[in-house]
Amino acid sequence: MEKITSKDLRSLYLNFFAEKGHAVIRSASLIPENDPTVLFTTAGMHPLTPYLLGQKHPAGNRLTDVQKCVRTGDIDEVGDASHCTFFEMLGNWSLGDYFKKEAIHWSYEFLTSEKYLGIPKERLAVSVFAGDDDAPRDEESADIWMECGLKPEQIFYLPKKNNWWGPAGITGPCGPDTEMFFDTGKPKCSDGCGPQCDCGKYLEIWNDVFMQYNKKEDGSFEPLRQKNVDTGMGLERTVCVINGLGSVYETDVFEGAIRCIESLSGKKYGIGDETTRAIRIVADHVRTATFMLGDQIGVTPSNVDQGYVLRRLIRRAIRFMRSLGIGKGEMVKLAAHYVDFYAEVYPELAENRQKIMDELTKEEEKFSRALEQGTKEFERAAAKAQNGVIDGQTAFRLYDTFGFPIEMTVEFAKEKGLAVDTEGFSEKFAEHQKKSQLGSEQRFKGGLADHSEKTTKLHTATHLLQAALRKVLGDEVAQKGSNITEERLRFDFSFSRPMTKEEIAETQKLVNEAIQRKMPITCEEMTVEEAKAQGAIGLFGDKYGEVVKVYTMGDFSKEICGGPHASNTGDLGEFVITKEQSSSSGVRRIKAELR
Ligand code: ALA
Repeated sequence: MEKITSKDLRSLYLNFFAEKGHAVIRSASLIPENDPTVLFTTAGMHPLTPYLLGQKHPAGNRLTDVQKCVRTGDIDEVGDASHCTFFEMLGNWSLGDYFKKEAIHWSYEFLTSEKYLGIPKERLAVSVFAGDDDAPRDEESADIWMECGLKPEQIFYLPKKNNWWGPAGITGPCGPDTEMFFDTGKPKCSDGCGPQCDCGKYLEIWNDVFMQYNKKEDGSFEPLRQKNVDTGMGLERTVCVINGLGSVYETDVFEGAIRCIESLSGKKYGIGDETTRAIRIVADHVRTATFMLGDQIGVTPSNVDQGYVLRRLIRRAIRFMRSLGIGKGEMVKLAAHYVDFYAEVYPELAENRQKIMDELTKEEEKFSRALEQGTKEFERAAAKAQNGVIDGQTAFRLYDTFGFPIEMTVEFAKEKGLAVDTEGFSEKFAEHQKKSQLGSEQRFKGGLADHSEKTTKLHTATHLLQAALRKVLGDEVAQKGSNITEERLRFDFSFSRPMTKEEIAETQKLVNEAIQRKMPITCEEMTVEEAKAQGAIGLFGDKYGEVVKVYTMGDFSKEICGGPHASNTGDLGEFVITKEQSSSSGVRRIKAELR
C-alpha cells in the first residue's frame, strides 16, 4: 500500500469507474431539494433517490461521483479520532444496470490492485447479509467474494442491524449490503470478534448496497422495478486507513487547518487531550460551516432548520476557539484556508468566498459578547445548582438571552460534573412557541420516495410560484430552498425585504391564473447551454455539455428540474399563500397550499 493523499484518492476512484463506463457527475448540493425527509444530504445516494426508484438519469445508468455530506447526529462525538460532521463520499451507481457480480469484482479490483489501493488481499475482511424474514441470506455475494480470492474466514454474515442500508428518510429504496474492512492485523479481541466489533481490529472503508426493495410507509418491503447498486466510500476515513494513521484529523485533509489553528492559538495538536479535542472540534466545525455557507444552494445562520444547525456549529467552534485562546476575527482565516484547499474540487466555495467571510463575521459579532456574558451567567448558575442540576429556566435564559444552544449549556455543565434539566428547558422553550427543530436530520415523514399526487402537484405549484414571484418582484428572486410535504409547499428565495400585502396577493393571483389557463406541462432533455439559451431558470450544473431536464409550463415557467410534475397546470386546484416570512438574512420564505 503506497501512501496517498485525498486528491489522489478522488482521482483514482473517479478514473477507475469512468474506465468502467460510468459518467462522472458533479456533487449535488448539501441542501436536499424537494425532499422533506432530511435537512442535509447524508450520503451519495440521497440526491439520486428518484433515479434509484426508476426515473431515467440524463447522464445514463452508470454514475460515479464524490458527494458532499453532512451528518450532525454525532456532533457530540466530534473531537474523537474518527467523527466529522462533514465528509466526502465516493460512490458508484448502477441504475438498473450491473448488479452484485460486477460491483463486487470492481470493488475487489480497486481495493487490491497495485494500480489503485494495493491492499494485500489477506488484509481484507467483508461482511454480507445473514438473512431474515424480509430478505434471504446473501450467499451470492459471499460466493462472488470467494471467486475474487477471499477465504471463508474473511467473510462474516451479519444481521440487518449491520448489513442493510436504507435511506436517510423513513421510506425509500434499500437493500442488503456488503461492507469492506481493512484488517489491521491486531489480535481478535474475543472469539466473536468480527467487523461488527469496534475494538479497532477491523476498519470499515467501503459499502456496496444492493438496492432491491422499496420500504413503504407501512414498514413493508416491495421489490423495486429495477435492481440498483449504491456504494459509499468515506474519503477521509479511507485516506486515514491506507496511510496507517491514527485519526482522520491526521490526514492531509486537515493538515493545513490544524497548522492554521496551531499558529492562531499558539497551542500544539497532539499535546494534551483537551487541547487536541478542541483543535479537532474547531477544525471540523469551521470546515462544515464553510461548506454550508459556500454551497451551491447554501444556508445562512438562523434559528430554524438547516440555519440553526449551522448556527450551532459556528457557535460551538467559537466557544472552543476562545478556550484555545483564539480571539475574535480569526475564524475567517481558517475558513479562507478551507476555501483555498477545496476550491479546485468545489468551485462554489470560491464563488461564495465573500458570503462565507461575511456570514462568519456577522455570526461572530452576534455571539462573542453574549458568549462572554453568558459564561459568567452560567458560572453563577453552576455555583447555585441544586443537587448537581442546572434548572430548565436557567438553561432557557442562557438560550434566549445569550444564544447558548442547549447542547452548549449541557456541555458546559458536563465539564463541571453537572447535569441540565433539559426537559424543563423544553417546556420553557415550548411555552415561547419557538418550535425546536434541532439536531435530527430525520424529522419529517414522506420523502423523495413520496411521489404521491399531492406532493407532485405541490412541486408543480412551486414552479408556478417562482415564476410568479419573478414577475412580481423581479429577476433577483432565485430559489434558495424548497421543502414539500403532503400538506404544503415551502419555498425560500432571495429577496431583501418583506413582501407587501399587494405583492403577495398579486403573486397568488398570477399562480391561480396560470392554473386556470390549463396549460400543458412538458419535459425535455437538453444540455445546460441549450437550457440557458432558452431562458430556463434553476440550478445549472457547471459541466459543459451536461444534460439536464427542463420542465416547461405553457408560456409561464421554464425551469431545470428532476421532476416529477403534474401533466397540466389545470390539475392543481386553488393555490393559497398561507405565510410570507423571513427565513434568514436576504432570504424570504413562503408557505402555500393547494385546496
Ligand atoms: N448508501 C451507502 C452508505 O452511505 C453506500 O453507506
